[in-house]
Amino acid sequence: MAAFQTSIMMFLAHLILLLGLPTALVGAIPLTPAPNELELAASKWAASSYWVANIKRQGTVPFGSNSAYQVFRNVKDFGAKGDGSTDDTAAINKAISSGNRCGKGCDSSTTTPALVYFPPGTYVVSKPIIQFYYTQIVGDAIDIPVIKASAAFTGMAVIDADPYEDNGDNWYTNQNNFFRAIRNLVIDITAMPPSSGAGIHWQVGQATSLQNIRFEMVKGGGSANKQEGVFMDNGSGGFMSDLTFNGGNYGMFLGNQQFTTRNLTFNGCQTAIYMNWNWAWTFKSVNINNCRVGLNMSTSPSNQTVGSVMMLDSTLTNTPIGIVTAWTKKSIPVGGGTLVLDNVDFSGSTVAVAGVDGNTILAGGAVVNSWVQGNTYSPSSGSTKRAYRPEENDDNIEVVTVIETVMHTVLACAATNGAATLASNIPASSNIGVATVVPTGTDVGDRSIIPQATAMSAPALSGLPGFDNSWMSVFVDSSGNTYEIPLESSQTPAAIESTAAAVVPASSEPPAVQTSNAVPAIEPSSAVAVASESSGAVPVAGSTVAVGTSSAAVTQGTGSSSSSSSSSSSSSSSSSGSGTCNGAANQAVASARTQGTMQASSKPSDLLNGGAVFERSKPLYESLPASSFISVKSAGAKGDGTTDDTAALQKVLDSATADQVVYFDHGAYVITSTLKVPKDIKITGEVWPMIMAHGANFQDEKNPIPALQIGQEGESGSVEMSDLIVTTKGAAPGAILMEWNVAGSSQGSAGMWDVHIRIGGAAGTGLQSDTCPKTPAKQTTPKEECIAAFLLLHITQKASAYIENAWVWTADHELDLDDHSQINVYTGRGVLIESQNPVWLWGTASEHHQLYNYQVSNAANVFMGLIQTETPYYQSNPTALTPFTPQDSWNDPDFSTCTTASCKKSWGLRVMNTSDLFIYGAGLYSFFENYAQTCLDSEDCQENMVEVDCSDVHIYGLSTKAAVNMVTSSSGQSMVPEKPNTSNFCSTIALFEQSV
Ligand SMILES: *[C@@H]1O[C@H](CO)[C@@H](O)[C@H](O)[C@H]1NC(C)=O
Ligand SMILES: *[C@@H]1O[C@H](CO)[C@@H](O)[C@H](O)[C@H]1NC(C)=O
Repeated sequence: MAAFQTSIMMFLAHLILLLGLPTALVGAIPLTPAPNELELAASKWAASSYWVANIKRQGTVPFGSNSAYQVFRNVKDFGAKGDGSTDDTAAINKAISSGNRCGKGCDSSTTTPALVYFPPGTYVVSKPIIQFYYTQIVGDAIDIPVIKASAAFTGMAVIDADPYEDNGDNWYTNQNNFFRAIRNLVIDITAMPPSSGAGIHWQVGQATSLQNIRFEMVKGGGSANKQEGVFMDNGSGGFMSDLTFNGGNYGMFLGNQQFTTRNLTFNGCQTAIYMNWNWAWTFKSVNINNCRVGLNMSTSPSNQTVGSVMMLDSTLTNTPIGIVTAWTKKSIPVGGGTLVLDNVDFSGSTVAVAGVDGNTILAGGAVVNSWVQGNTYSPSSGSTKRAYRPEENDDNIEVVTVIETVMHTVLACAATNGAATLASNIPASSNIGVATVVPTGTDVGDRSIIPQATAMSAPALSGLPGFDNSWMSVFVDSSGNTYEIPLESSQTPAAIESTAAAVVPASSEPPAVQTSNAVPAIEPSSAVAVASESSGAVPVAGSTVAVGTSSAAVTQGTGSSSSSSSSSSSSSSSSSGSGTCNGAANQAVASARTQGTMQASSKPSDLLNGGAVFERSKPLYESLPASSFISVKSAGAKGDGTTDDTAALQKVLDSATADQVVYFDHGAYVITSTLKVPKDIKITGEVWPMIMAHGANFQDEKNPIPALQIGQEGESGSVEMSDLIVTTKGAAPGAILMEWNVAGSSQGSAGMWDVHIRIGGAAGTGLQSDTCPKTPAKQTTPKEECIAAFLLLHITQKASAYIENAWVWTADHELDLDDHSQINVYTGRGVLIESQNPVWLWGTASEHHQLYNYQVSNAANVFMGLIQTETPYYQSNPTALTPFTPQDSWNDPDFSTCTTASCKKSWGLRVMNTSDLFIYGAGLYSFFENYAQTCLDSEDCQENMVEVDCSDVHIYGLSTKAAVNMVTSSSGQSMVPEKPNTSNFCSTIALFEQSV
């Protein structure tokens, strides 16, 4: 069925439609609303009991230029009628734009925030509502307002978060379009002709959310129906939840670097989700009913533009075709089109996964517990908990096709928790030839160097260089047939050698295909014996075929991060933060190109609810009266960015009862010692007010203290926090921005939503481009006044936390001063998880921290979906060892196995001594070497990105950018090299597993 094939042309045609060109000719047609149930809301628009409408408004902007600046805006105060007939476009746009806010040409500003409230009613609009920077659009949550496009509506979408100019320029840089939220709305485009219309143009970056929105679109109509609920061309997001799409051609048309989306319902869409491009996308709890196609991820089948899709805990009903993919055993890019299905009920689909030709890859009619397509790196010994269990008796399925076998040895870990007793790895890995270094498109996640994308040059749709047939691998299907695909015969790129990273070995020969359980020729890379590797034969795809690597492809130190690691003793080379293990438990890791059913990983029941991963949406408090909200300003805090508010805030937190909500009016609240957030508390804020750690108590990196301390060790209770920013004012090298101690007294009862930790780059922080400029042209000695925090988020041993949409960001560039320049602000560590109790991270990112972005050590029961990181742009000038000194007591990495500067760069993720860690989607990026991007060409901005040791981990959908090794052991040995896994921009694998 070629009907599934799509093209760039489709995207362009689609943009033209959305730009409203056809309907522009229609002119102003008076709206005669059809009486339907949506209009009924108009009769009761007058008042609402929702607290947002009724609390006293005291928000101010401390670091702006106008002390009378109005933060809260009720659209009716600006003349919107919401009566179902008046054209409210101008009034709504005035409510959003008034006050000299950050609109066209501004790019970014933190000093003009707005909370724009829509009371109940039906608001007719004829042109887009333009959402300015730093705006929350919040509808009444009790009686949800309707925004209705008139029949004559023209423009890209009913709400537009990043308008296009006629020349194709955007108002905001797509990947820098931060701090946006829209919630509690119905968006109705059913009055528009089916040939056009979109609900929300959502072209955004981090710290953005859509929640509790229903999209009403024209139903049916075949190819004449062009309507869509969410239109997303690009960006670097982000999070969405609780969305319902009724009708339309596409419920969602999506393209973004990475995103986490949860609780989406599609009813009667033609295609529920059209995935145009991505690097990584996680879907959770998707319900697709009465659609023709559930998810189409087959864009550009000849060269896929979709990197990876993870789908969990989802159900399709009366939807004949579940997922359309362009992935085949020979598809390019080799890491692209990765798909992970986990507990997806295809009972209501004829075909669960279809190819672009209409072929059935996986039949529908059943629940799919675990199914994967893409490159996998899994333990292969029979004793491991999870072995391949390919679908049997189904000739349509091309199952596991092993392309290489990577052997490594995991030494048994000490049983203790708490001490840094970690494994050492003695890999003797091998891999096949070097994959082509694919030039990247323009969609680098860089915040300020890469020109913004334009309508007609959406990233991943333009500049896709030609396929050069230069690399090849060998595949074996379940019948033992072998296939060849192109393999690059060249040697290690010189550019990589020049970094002294001992990377992928040169090999001019494809791996030999062996048809017996032969032992791969593996040489241990150190003097330590590698026992029982003869178990290296890999059970493959229900057949007995095992594929070893040819000896030519097996060399010492393969893929290792440093030349020293292959000669040093594995036990002594380990750092303080990566101690040694006793005993030996050998494991083989097999790399395979996989398309098939896997044995489902069994997640601890604590993480699950009804068999699905636990989820909980941000509280909207629609059942609480305004009198339940306790303003911190009314209680005596100033929030002026200067006054020490510690005592005033502590008092209000201590006196709040469990049924009250502490309300942070917009402002900047300086604290000079630890603010203790007691258990059993609810806190929310007005468009991300700031809590700023400041002063002498936060200066000692040897004795760091928390700024916000959430509960005390050992406590359990309920904590809800939302819409806040935690930050620092000036240098605070001894500040732990948030220490989370409390455990939920019931599942997920301790949580936070849309709470961001943001360091520097913003007005009032003292850590801006004028003070902390970048210094790539000289050897950098960090300025004391720019050393900003010790650690941003610490989840301690006894804690349990539900964290959704949190951006843990040290600014890489200036948001407020006109230069918007890149800056050198230093924070020691990003997110540290040490908890034994369940932790859920949905849609989190941790960027630009010196030693690591995420570290999970001595932890258990952790779920992450999806995580995103970036390495500091300044590294390796200085390296990760400056200015913060690694400390043993914090299990810090010390980079002692490194011999090169590119090895001494921040870890995207470190996992040590941890059990039951489940990651569904990770985009871990390195875009720079000392602010230069030439390392992108050679894909070697740093040597390593993920360290895993002595842990029971399941990482699905791992994407890394420009790190020579995707996964490395603590001794510096590569476990997953980047080269054989090249995707559209990153390198991507479907699965990395290690069990101890
Ligand atoms: C999913 O979203 C719907 C619609 O917004 C909401 O009613 C429901 O409570 C949400 N479910 C969960 C588990 O959050
Ligand atoms: C495929 O697309 C990538 C960019 O995503 C490009 O670098 C590569 O050259 C393209 N290959 C072909 C055959 O078009």
